[in-house]
Amino acid sequence: MSGFDADWLALREPADRAARDGGLVALLAAHLERPAKKPASLLDIGCGTGSTWRSLHAALPASTRWQLLDYDPLLLAAAEQRIGPDAGVLFRRHDLNDLAGLPLQGVDAVTASALFDLCSEDFCRKFVARLAEHRCALYAALSYDGTTAWLPAHPLDGRALADFNRHQRTDKGFGPALGPDATEVLRTELEAAGYTVHIADSCWSMGPDQAALQLAFLNGFETPLREIGGLSSAEVDDWLSFRRAHTLEAATSCRVGHLDLLALPG
Ligand SMILES: C[S@@+](CC[C@H](N)C(=O)[O-])C[C@H]1O[C@@H](n2cnc3c(N)ncnc32)[C@H](O)[C@@H]1O
Repeated sequence: MSGFDADWLALREPADRAARDGGLVALLAAHLERPAKKPASLLDIGCGTGSTWRSLHAALPASTRWQLLDYDPLLLAAAEQRIGPDAGVLFRRHDLNDLAGLPLQGVDAVTASALFDLCSEDFCRKFVARLAEHRCALYAALSYDGTTAWLPAHPLDGRALADFNRHQRTDKGFGPALGPDATEVLRTELEAAGYTVHIADSCWSMGPDQAALQLAFLNGFETPLREIGGLSSAEVDDWLSFRRAHTLEAATSCRVGHLDLLALPG
């Protein structure tokens, strides 16, 4: 329903886990530590199949209560099945565009991974206002930052990336998407609302041994490049076949820039 394929999310999960900044996770854990108070409550938005929970829960206080939220019933069902009933996690179907209905009551921190680059500036402004009402912390990991670099290089890399990044700014369901600007816009809005904001690098460094992930990532360029139309169809074909051939020969590495953000209420 959402267009996010569970197989793609499964393929990227180990790379995401390796890329997450451990320092920000440790700061979040310290923020959620509350001796002698009721356990911390955490809401993961755009949860997909539960990657954020799998990556974080062991690093956070064991008593933390989790709710996982997504609007895609298939991804939510996959999350529920993979996490199982014993973890005490609640699953909620909700469209984030209904910000007024977001269940923030009693929530100490909202988490999200690979979500905010899909969101618009208007959405982020309204979302931060809702967070600030509840003095909720925000952990927003793995937002694409617009940088991708391949080795070996191809003469069309720069134009292909510029077109891909333009496509990243088209509407992904929240109005014109922020794409590479997501982290900076969140930082501005959160600081204006009185939050202390920490940002850290969480890039993917994919080596030749990660050919399946590299290939899937590359396949994700085809439709955007053809839709934006900056390169001719023959140029797209040449560029993709060069990149695919090198990836299949295990002769390519690729670095994709992401940023993690942690905002703590002042
Ligand atoms: C790139 S995936 C990331 C999933 C997961 N956080 C992860 O890191 O694997 C984006 C997720 O946001 C969800 N999503 C997109 N638009 C949404 C909306 N309007 N309301 C709720 N969830 C949404 C999608 O269903 C998808 O699960």
